[in-house]
Amino acid sequence: MEVSELKKAAFDDFKKARDEKALNTAFKKYLGKDGQLALVLASLKKTPLAKRRLMGRKANQLKQELLALTEQRKEELRRQERQAKAESDWFDITVPGKKPASGHLHPLTLTQRKSAEIFQQLGFSVIEGPEIETEWYNFDALNIPKEHPARDMWDTFWLKEPKSSPKLLLRTHTSPVQVRYMEKRRPPLRIVVPGRVFRHEASDASHDVQFYQLEGLMVDRDVSAANFKAIVQEFLRRFFAKPVKIRLRPSFFPFVEPGFEIDMTCVVCNGKGCPLCSKTGWLEMAGAGMVHPAVFRAAGLNPNTWTGFAFGMGLDRLTMMKYKINDLRLFYSGDLRFLDQF
Ligand code: PHE
Repeated sequence: MEVSELKKAAFDDFKKARDEKALNTAFKKYLGKDGQLALVLASLKKTPLAKRRLMGRKANQLKQELLALTEQRKEELRRQERQAKAESDWFDITVPGKKPASGHLHPLTLTQRKSAEIFQQLGFSVIEGPEIETEWYNFDALNIPKEHPARDMWDTFWLKEPKSSPKLLLRTHTSPVQVRYMEKRRPPLRIVVPGRVFRHEASDASHDVQFYQLEGLMVDRDVSAANFKAIVQEFLRRFFAKPVKIRLRPSFFPFVEPGFEIDMTCVVCNGKGCPLCSKTGWLEMAGAGMVHPAVFRAAGLNPNTWTGFAFGMGLDRLTMMKYKINDLRLFYSGDLRFLDQF
């Protein structure tokens, strides 16, 4: 083969090599021990002397050229590889990021925290009590002795307990904490007690076997129902961020005298009447009243010295009013379609 033909074929092959492996193959094909160039050089022996010198020079020159070309192609291939990698690694820093899903608070927790915050601003301390309560604190100390018909106002979950221990139950309200607190702290005092309570009753849109209350208690030498009304009204105004219409109705709870219930206008129907407010336009938010002398006595306080008001507010209902939720059971369903809205 003529050296010039060989050169053309070799240059073609070297240029076509797309990676180092192909380049190595081409290298071996022409510059290897048994490669094309070696064949040419071997054939020189049989070549007439006159032609031999020229051919030899050309063949050696080609060898140098191919060696140089190999280095050049290697360098090119490496550069291409680096560039391809840089392109695949590249990312657009101006693209808006993906927001990682983060947890959030349950609407009842939001209400509980907000209520506690408002009452703290009004000078109340936030206190907690046990969810498993004794018969004494849940009933007797609150002026509801055994066999008193008022016990039927709360459908109770009693716990099985060893004979010697006091009777235990899931507290039916947060009121027991009134007595627990007054036993330990002398008045004047102002507390609120958020917490879960339990009733053994059928559930519907506004009742469930468990719900949340916020107990309030203010005791001093000269506390009146007017003080109470001012406090709830201010609380509701701050909670709903607007004035809210309320009304007080006379009612009965053994641990207050006088007792009343507080209704607020149903914000779901704007007072027109809907299933949530039993078509009355009003929703009962809390039971309340002036602390009964028997309760002061049970806590070891002199009823002639101290006066006070107490209330038990339904946090679930407050939450329903705030976010216009028409079924209480949604709070406990764990349904993310509901919960993700908060
Ligand atoms: N504990 C009562 C209830 O759960 C509410 C209440 C609290 C009423 C304090 C009067 C005073 O129904």
